[in-house]
This record gives sequence, structure tokens and C-alpha cells, in this order.
Amino acid sequence: MAQQPIAEAFTTTKRSWWEKSIVYQIYPKSFYDSNQDGIGDLQGVIQKLDYLQEIGIDVIWLSPVYTSPMDDNGYDISDYQGIAEEFGTMEDMEQLIAEADRRGMKLIMDLVVNHTSDEHPWFAESRTNKLHPQRDWYIWKDRNENGGPPNQWQSVFGGSCWEYEPVTDQYYMHTFSKKQPDLNWENPQLRQAVYDMIHWWIEKGIAGFRVDAITFIKKVFDAAGHEVGVVKANQKGVQTFLTELSNQSFRPYDLLTVAEAPGVTLEQLSSYVGEDGYFSMLFEFDHVDLDLGKDGLWFKPKKWELSDFKKAISNSQKIFNRQGWGALYLENHDQPRSLSKFIEPDGIGPVSAKMLATVYFLLKGTPFIYQGQELGMTNTAFASVESFNDLASIDQYHSALKEGFSEADALTAVGNRSRDNARTPMQWNDTENAGFSKEKPWLAVNDNYSVVNAEHRNDPESVFSYYQQLIHLRKNSDYADVLTYGQYEEVLENHPDAIAYIRRDETKSIAVIANFKNKNVKIDLPFGVKNVILTNDSVTEKFDALKPYECAVLELLN
Ligand code: NOJ
Repeated sequence: MAQQPIAEAFTTTKRSWWEKSIVYQIYPKSFYDSNQDGIGDLQGVIQKLDYLQEIGIDVIWLSPVYTSPMDDNGYDISDYQGIAEEFGTMEDMEQLIAEADRRGMKLIMDLVVNHTSDEHPWFAESRTNKLHPQRDWYIWKDRNENGGPPNQWQSVFGGSCWEYEPVTDQYYMHTFSKKQPDLNWENPQLRQAVYDMIHWWIEKGIAGFRVDAITFIKKVFDAAGHEVGVVKANQKGVQTFLTELSNQSFRPYDLLTVAEAPGVTLEQLSSYVGEDGYFSMLFEFDHVDLDLGKDGLWFKPKKWELSDFKKAISNSQKIFNRQGWGALYLENHDQPRSLSKFIEPDGIGPVSAKMLATVYFLLKGTPFIYQGQELGMTNTAFASVESFNDLASIDQYHSALKEGFSEADALTAVGNRSRDNARTPMQWNDTENAGFSKEKPWLAVNDNYSVVNAEHRNDPESVFSYYQQLIHLRKNSDYADVLTYGQYEEVLENHPDAIAYIRRDETKSIAVIANFKNKNVKIDLPFGVKNVILTNDSVTEKFDALKPYECAVLELLN
């Protein structure tokens, strides 16, 4: 059923439903294949709804399932109101919304409106001639004085962000691949068409959106447009577009909106999110991109320290104490698996997976779990460049070769960061193809599926069980209020190996403390412990050290 306008739904409280929610991200292509063609699908998601309910999540974020030529696995949309054949039909989508609703779960969709596919009818019209009324729905520019592209901007996926079209002798702009032409948000008819499409989906009964790459919608072609470098996000003036988008399409409804919003500064953060912001919350990048080299090159990783991670987390948490709301995450379909990123290779396992979960899950904000994270899934091994599917990985690999890397070194360096790490099929059990499909999957299953899979979930020691406990703590325990609304306070700030924080309200103080390193670590507690609420190993009230990757949630003496 359609969402209620907010005025009717909520008049008495400022608290929003999404503050108490746990979100689970599904990458449909890799979740579950119901029709045995090697590709996950909507019926596959429907068949696994009981599994999602078992975890205890409230909201499903579905990565794009719209009609698409799949150049970027669905982030290149050719019909916003259609479903990609490989995923199913609109009836399947309606059934999924209804079945999720029946189990008390809401669904949010990916909203990809910085660009469309080059196969979208809007673009097909736009590219025909310069006088077409839809010409201006995309960004077309003349050649520069030397006959080359209008400026030196690079696309996020590598190479120029301009593609030449001989038919009209102009270039079009694409922040991502050349099959993803950018929409021109300066055009009011285009903006209205986007809002109409959003309303259509809200009427279908979805509860909100994950808003893709949204801070790229403003382009500033002034003198700075002659700089060399990747297209910049969050340019001056984007706020005008975001205000209108929010007022037209989000605010009148009681939605969860979470923005992928690169470029937003810490100073801007609280004005972009929360009750008075453009979005309910936004994904920050500092804590997941601390290993990224200059210009986003994966093969030139930056060395990072735990202190960088701690700072990235606490910077925004301190802001959310005053205003705004966090989107808490360690993984998504664009990131390597968190275990492989943050944990030393010989420390990877259930204990470290639970430690990572504890560290981010009890911060102030809404926790997001990416499919398979609840099982402790890890990065995979790539045998050759042919084992990559992701266009960004292939581009980075070739850039590494151009910079003098050997094939083997390029493969390792890019492999560590590849988005395909997160996209390997979900590991349901230890049968062929990890129980994802009876057919050869579109992307190879991770070799560790016989050990890491969902069949072990009922083991009380499993990572899955631990996530259930964290969810219980946040939602149904005596600590739910303080863990949702309590103030955040950083502790052990200068400890080189441990990360710790307190959540506090008038009645309770809860500490989260974790050893982030693969060695025993001494801890001088700056507080008294009343009781241990949860530990991934064997922390007791009187501990003064933590074993490798050990962590605990503690109730403190007030
Ligand atoms: C961000 C999405 O998360 C990513 O997967 C995609 O490639 C780009 N935006 C382009 O839509």
C-alpha cells in the first residue's frame, strides 16, 4: 500500500521509524537464483524472506532491478518503471513488496538519477538532433578549440568523462561509464520527469530509497572546469537541486532516504541529513576509503592506521550528538569485504567478524548489513583478469599495467579492492555453487563456501547468531533506548590498538570496547563495569587486557 503523507502519519513525535530500523542490502544478481539460470532474481529474494526475518532486519535495500543492459549491473537504467528480464517481472516486484510487508519488513529501492543508460528512450531521443526538446535532458557540449573533449575531466571509472557523437558533432558527459550518460538537472522538465517516476514507486508501496551518486547532479563548468582530475561531487549549487528533490519527492512522505553522497564535508553533514536535512541519512566514505590512493587508484593503496579509522568514525558521531543521523556500514556492493580489508589474513574468522560487527553496529545511527556479512564472507581470489566482471576492476587493472605493474601484481593489487569481492554469490550451504544456483553462476563462488555458509547459522557461536544478538540489543533489550538515542562519547582515544566508545542517556551508560589487532592488548579502563552484556570471546567484568580481536559490550556503573 502507498505511504501515508507525513502530516497524517506522524504529528506528535519527532522520532522517525528508520531510527530504530536495521537495514539489509541485497545485490539481487548474487542473492539467490530461483530459476536456475546462474543469475539471482526477485523470486529468489522472495524465497529467502524468511531467512531475512530470522536475522531480525526491518528494511531491505534492493540494489537496482530495473530494466537495464547491465553495463554496470543495473546502475545503468533503460526503463525506471520496468524490471530487468533476468530478475523477473513487475508482478514479482509487487509480490516481493507484499510478502515483505506481510513479514513486517519494508523495502527501499535504489534511485539512480544522476544518469541513465544510453539505451534509455530519453537518451535515444536526446542524441537524435540538437533541436530535439529532450536534447537538453543530457549534457551536450561542443568540441574544444582543438577539436578535443570540452574539458579534461576524468570519469570515475577511468578515461575522459566525454564521449563524442558524430551524428550531432557534440560530446555528452558521463561521470561513470560511457553507457551511463549524465542527466542534466538544470532542465526543469527532466527534474519533473524524475519526480513523477519517484512518486510512481512510492505509490507502489516502497518505503524509501538509497539515492545513488546524488551529489554528482550539479556540474559547474567555470574556469575550474579546465582542471584535470576525476569529476567532482557536491559542487556549489547542488543544495538547490537537493532541496527541490527532497521537497517534491521525499518530505511529503514518511520515507527512509539514504544518500550516497560523496564530497559532503563534515561541516555540511548535519545540514544534509536528519529531520531537517535532504535525506534521512547518508553514507560516509572516510572510514571505508582510508586505504584508497590518490584519485581513487586501487592499485596504489594508502597505508592507514587504526587512528585514521577511529577519527573517521568519531568525527561524524560527535556531529550526530547535536544533529543528524548516521548510516552505519562497513560493506556494500562497491567495497571489498570488511574482514579482508580490516583484519590481518591470519586473524580472519568468526571472532574478528564479530568484533567488526560490534564496533560499527552500536554507534549512533541506522545499521546496514550487506548480504553475506552476517556469515563472515570474505574477499575472493581472482585467477586472471577474465575472472573480473566489474567494469571498474577491469579498468583499474589496465591502468595498473600502463603504470608498469606486472600482470600478477596488477591482479593482486586490484583484486584486493575489486567490487567483485562483494558480488560473489551468497553462500547458502556447502553444496555445489554454495546453494546459490544449480547452474554455473554469473560470477564464481568464493572457494571458502564449504566453511562459510548460512547452514551454520543456528550454531550459537556463529557470526549469524552474533548479529542476531546485536539486533536484539538494539531493538528489544533494556538497552534499546540508550543504544538508539544515547549520546556518543569516544574513549581510549589515543590507544593504538583498541577502539572504544560509550553510549549514554539519563539512565544507562554502555561501553563498546574492541581490540582491533591480532595480539594481546592491555587496557586501562577509564570506567567501572557493572556487567558484561555481550562478548565475542571471554571478557569478564574485571578484565585488564583483550585477546586478539576480542571485544565486549559493557554496562557501566553510572
Ligand atoms: C554508485 C553505485 O553504488 C555503484 O555500484 C555504481 O557503479 C555507481 N554509483 C554508478 O551508478
